[in-house]
Amino acid sequence: MTRSLALAIALLTTSVNAAEGVSSREYAARRQLVASAIGPRSILVMFSAQPARRNGSVEWPYRQNDNLYYLTGNTQPDSALVLLPGEPATSEVLFARERNPQQERWSGRIPSAEELRAGTGIATIAGADGLNGFIAAVLEGRSWSPAGRPLSFADPIAPSFSEAVRRGEAEVWLLMERRPPLDGDLPPVLEYAGRLRARYPEIRFRDATPVLRGLREVKTAAELELMRRAIDITGDAQLAAMRLAMTATNEKQIDDAIDRAYREGGACCWGFPSIVAAGANATTLHYHANDAVIRRGDLVLTDIGADYQGYTADVTRTYPAGGRFTAEQRAVHDAVFRAQEEVIRIARAGNTWRELSDKAHQVLGEELLELGLITRNEPEQVRMYFFHGIGHHVGLQVHDTGRYQQLRPGMVIAIEPGIYVRKDDVLASPTYAKLGEEEKSRVAGALERYNGIGVRIEDNVLVTGGAPEHLSRKAPRSAADIEKFMNGARVSSPAP
Ligand code: GLY
Ligand code: MN
Ligand code: MN
Repeated sequence: MTRSLALAIALLTTSVNAAEGVSSREYAARRQLVASAIGPRSILVMFSAQPARRNGSVEWPYRQNDNLYYLTGNTQPDSALVLLPGEPATSEVLFARERNPQQERWSGRIPSAEELRAGTGIATIAGADGLNGFIAAVLEGRSWSPAGRPLSFADPIAPSFSEAVRRGEAEVWLLMERRPPLDGDLPPVLEYAGRLRARYPEIRFRDATPVLRGLREVKTAAELELMRRAIDITGDAQLAAMRLAMTATNEKQIDDAIDRAYREGGACCWGFPSIVAAGANATTLHYHANDAVIRRGDLVLTDIGADYQGYTADVTRTYPAGGRFTAEQRAVHDAVFRAQEEVIRIARAGNTWRELSDKAHQVLGEELLELGLITRNEPEQVRMYFFHGIGHHVGLQVHDTGRYQQLRPGMVIAIEPGIYVRKDDVLASPTYAKLGEEEKSRVAGALERYNGIGVRIEDNVLVTGGAPEHLSRKAPRSAADIEKFMNGARVSSPAP
């Protein structure tokens, strides 16, 4: 390992203060790891996300491509990062829009080259229009100047890369993972790759996605601090939601309280749209309407995550509107709680995602058998009530990138068992159809009793060298703690 690579790794594991965010030195260290993974005969080109149009002249709020953000902190559209690890003079170039008063009076200030240099740690900042000329100069062994005019008789911009081209060893790395459907339009990066391929058939093309995936699945100390903040704010939002559930009459009131808690806590916004689901709505996994009536006997499920400096949390609580579980609601909640406890216990370095999933199915199966909702503890029967994965990485994306094999220290993961009782779906399922008559009538009886109950409990956990660290403890999780909190909130709320 080179000394600079060792320094980069040391920097990424040093603890920092969340308020400081990610330093330009850390971005440089991340790029150094990528550069060392792709090697000196390579060029990497990474584009900013395209602004997304909602309809007509209305755009969605802009969100940078996560990998570009991870390597630079740059939030500008129309920008691109180029890495040339074998070229000491131009090893890193950021192409970005230049300041433009005419444009800025419509869409806000564009950062200056000095600001981009300071924020990203990239020495060479060039205008966005220069990208194609630069790439052509690199691939064709020509000179290049930021002004875009070729310099006669000047040296090639990337001499050692040109040498690799001559030897037939050059590689162009792009983020190409998103495969389009066979009959769909090509995403812009693949169109770009196709154009380069046609023009430079001697050059190999490589997908940089696995390199970024390998880096991002383990969080750096700075990322962890940002995630702790996102998770903490989300915990406050869960507490606000539980308090309000004592009196709220519509899901949208709770939805509003969650957004308010995010802003008060210093988050910009949500990391994914909140799910606020009362009663049987909680049995729809991606329920987003958030506008139904809440009745006092309902359970309310809030699956939410604040975004703090680009990082999201992902925490779910399910609690009774009114503060007391019915016997049936509590039985289902206890079942999910036990499954979650058992899975969190084995969220340890060296264990696999497969083992976590198997544990969840095994414990949920035992519990569903106890509830009478299944007749044998078999994954196929369990899947009638638990029909999503046990968890995922969390980070810049709520379902963050990762290899999903063995757990390693520094991973932040969500663990989210659930039971969703949808009587009509179960009765219509092939699994139910295969049961014997006596089994069917037993299950049908239990379905009558628990129909419409949906419970998910989701927590964010840091995998360590030892016991997992439970990051989202702030909001009560067990039925007893939830009832205690909610009824304490009732007692302590001021008289109307
Ligand atoms: N909120 C999305 C999920 O729980 O995976
Ligand atoms: Mn989740
Ligand atoms: Mn969630």
